[in-house]
Amino acid sequence: MRQHSIGMDDEALRDGLDRAGDWIREYFAQPEAHRVMPAVVPGQIAAMLPETAPEEGVPFDEIFADFERIVVPGTTHWNHPRFFAYFATSSAPAAIVAEALAATLDVKAMLWRTSPAATELEEVMMRWMRRLLDLPPQWTGVIYDTASIAGFTVLAAARDALGLQIRERGMSGRDLPALRIYITGETHSHVEKAAIALGVGQENVVRVACDDAYRMRPEALRAAVDADEKAEMRPLAVVATVGTTSTTSVDPVAAIAEVTRERNIWLHVDAAYAGPAAIIPEFRWMLDGVELADSLVLNPHKWMFVPMDLSVLFLKDESIVRRAFSLVPEYLTTPEAGVVNYMDYGLQLGRRFRALKLWFVLRHFGAEGIREQLRRHIALAQEFASWVSVEPGWEVMAPHPLSVVCFRYAPAELDETQRDAFNAEILHAVNATGEVFLSHTKVDGRYALRLAIGNLRTQRADVEHAWNLLKREALRMKPR
Ligand SMILES: Cc1ncc(COP(=O)(O)O)c(C=O)c1O
Repeated sequence: MRQHSIGMDDEALRDGLDRAGDWIREYFAQPEAHRVMPAVVPGQIAAMLPETAPEEGVPFDEIFADFERIVVPGTTHWNHPRFFAYFATSSAPAAIVAEALAATLDVKAMLWRTSPAATELEEVMMRWMRRLLDLPPQWTGVIYDTASIAGFTVLAAARDALGLQIRERGMSGRDLPALRIYITGETHSHVEKAAIALGVGQENVVRVACDDAYRMRPEALRAAVDADEKAEMRPLAVVATVGTTSTTSVDPVAAIAEVTRERNIWLHVDAAYAGPAAIIPEFRWMLDGVELADSLVLNPHKWMFVPMDLSVLFLKDESIVRRAFSLVPEYLTTPEAGVVNYMDYGLQLGRRFRALKLWFVLRHFGAEGIREQLRRHIALAQEFASWVSVEPGWEVMAPHPLSVVCFRYAPAELDETQRDAFNAEILHAVNATGEVFLSHTKVDGRYALRLAIGNLRTQRADVEHAWNLLKREALRMKPR
């Protein structure tokens, strides 16, 4: 009876785990067996699946066979060593095991009492991360799913901290000044989405000018704030980025913080991608001045080998976030005093036990093991940039301080419009091989190819392979 209701008896569970374990080991042993980007067209996967859920349970073997038949070939393989698109990432094996254990415990880490170990492990992991990043000792950290949600949460808290009683009275039907958020043209789009969701409005997201290395110009920020205050608008927050999404440029946090302190504006530092590199002493400069900010986000799920999702938000004063979000109905009141109840730190009630995988990764690699990998990625990207810069007809398009390079094929005989179109064709051709996967962006309005290194399994030969493919396809398709 019990067997039927659980769905898997002891032996079947062991077989299932063995099967998944074997599959995972084979997957990592032979990543080249898969195309990086699958050869599927939109709708193809859905067409292989029935429109309705089965009425009767299906044997595990059949489900697993369909995983291999439908899901695996229909997946873009982020764990492939030749995945160079967006921000390349990878899951450390230790974290994969932790994810299975977290799913087994399946706690909802919203109250201390629903999850004492998850809550306290999260608190300790945040202290470990704070020390690794050399942040002020009074700062505290909270784990969110993504940098976008962490960003939304701090902007909501910053809005609440303006003293306009928005929590109580809302924003509609009253006379409020326009609330302004300052970013640059390089800032990640989640800030604008947060402005939409928070009732700030897209028109009140101010794009401050950048210098020629795509970094926010602090004097332009000061001028923008001055102009807005003169027009009786109300600055809500400045978002500085350490490692922008397109070129990985690093905004000058210390100089920006001078402006935000002077004007008493919330400063959020978005280091979603580059933040993990700040645990390397020679890259800590990227966060210089962060102690003057109000919040900082970084994503171990981007560049610290923790599988999606795990984003870390540090706060100078966490009580501001709690004030914005804490709302405790009777059924969630608890007798424990002096404990953290993580439901108080955002919209979400139930939360995953994310700290477990971070704990496994930090202990398994050790900080030095992580630094070694990040240094290796940065060195590979620098070497790739050096190949591009000496190759006739090719050029690097932006400074590349970390593990991402923006570049293009720009022979003299093509004008700018033709270069844009031709590089898009090159990208399409190399990705169509299934051997590598790169993405693109725009740099100064021009189409750029973008190679990002961040996978544990990426070797020099993989980067060389990508470079050879790019050159081969450019030559093959070259307009004559
Ligand atoms: C600088 C920056 N901030 C935020 C994000 C959003 O990250 P997430 O997917 O965790 O919301 C990204 C994603 O690439 C990013 O590059």
